[in-house]
Amino acid sequence: MDIENILKAHGQEHLLRHAASLTEEERRQFFAALEEIDWETLSLAEQAEAQPPRGKIAPIAGCSLAEIARRRAEYAAAGKEAIRAGKVAAVLLAGGQGTRLGSSAPKGAYNIGVSRELFIFEQLIRNLTDAVEFSGAYVPLYIMTSDKNDAETRAFFAAHGYFGYPESEIKFFVQEMAPCVDFCGKLLLEGRGRPALSPNGNGGWYSSMQRAGLTQELARRGVEWINVFAVDNVLQRIADPVFVGATIASGKMCGAKVVRKAYPGEKVGVLCLEDGAPSVVEYYELSEEMANARAADGSYAYSYGVILNYLFNAARLAQISSEKIPVHVVKKKIPYLDGQGVLVSPERENGYKFETLILDMVRLMGSCLPFEVERSREFAPIKNKTGVDSVESARELLKQNGVQL
Ligand code: UTP
Repeated sequence: MDIENILKAHGQEHLLRHAASLTEEERRQFFAALEEIDWETLSLAEQAEAQPPRGKIAPIAGCSLAEIARRRAEYAAAGKEAIRAGKVAAVLLAGGQGTRLGSSAPKGAYNIGVSRELFIFEQLIRNLTDAVEFSGAYVPLYIMTSDKNDAETRAFFAAHGYFGYPESEIKFFVQEMAPCVDFCGKLLLEGRGRPALSPNGNGGWYSSMQRAGLTQELARRGVEWINVFAVDNVLQRIADPVFVGATIASGKMCGAKVVRKAYPGEKVGVLCLEDGAPSVVEYYELSEEMANARAADGSYAYSYGVILNYLFNAARLAQISSEKIPVHVVKKKIPYLDGQGVLVSPERENGYKFETLILDMVRLMGSCLPFEVERSREFAPIKNKTGVDSVESARELLKQNGVQL
């Protein structure tokens, strides 16, 4: 089918009208960009509000702070050995747009210093370096960017000498993009002849690594465990030998760093079992009874809040790579070109983005070890400029942990 008929078949005739206003060269590029679009995904907008039914939810057994303290030396030794043997790699998810922070630069390039410069990326490299120093071997670091921030991210690292990490141990890869539509499922434009596209969510990292040929590289290097982490938690331990050792010892296919919920109603996703598989349930999906249910030791049964720091078994990832992970339809504010050709930055949500989520990969892994960490020592996410989970709150936590700002 030619592009004209494809657009008609998917109810996207408005794009043909737009194409008619373009120069020949612009139209050629526009159609080339449209050829890349997965039109089946767009049809998901029709069921945007539908919530798939949940399976049977049950608590999941985890590794508590007390148990970690008791077996710390054993886990640390096992993790160190795995790192020294080159079995551990790290993947930094930095493809997001950080819209809540309100800066158009890559989030990791944000300066969180007070009396001197301290960039988010810099702090993360320092945290990773702790594991390198403890283990006596480098951990290869793969950084996922997006079309929107790739050049800037690479240039930022180069300009800062990779913050002292060997350049040869750092590789960048670009994540795949997904289209943005209005509430009626019509593809939006972000410029003349340019469909609005956005990164396809934090679950896109593995397929994007595959596309970049990097999963083959991991296999060639003998990497068995991949520590995937978000750009915004400046306190997190990366390639943490204790976490690596505990996950290996558990025999599970992945590990998830978790913090205990501060109180039963706290608005965080909790790790649990759904029909026997690890799953993250959002706070509003837990009944009050479940939120308050207690385990045998008196602690809350559903209290493991995820912090987006996971350890994945590479062999298992390769096995599940052909399985489709669900695409979530998410309401967002999407800048778009209106009928008059004016670029509008909406104040309120005006359409949908299509995203895959890393927590759906955890489910596919089949088994997962919740590994508890102390919130005040390992969780300082930067989502907003001020208030909750902000630059301000992260600075406070960094100071409490002895980081000079
Ligand atoms: P968030 O879900 O907090 O999104 O990302 P965000 O883009 O950083 O921020 P907002 O919502 O626009 O304010 C959690 C982690 O997943 C990464 C982010 O970079 C962050 O490390 N991410 C998110 C990607 O790498 N790609 C995506 O498509 C989305």
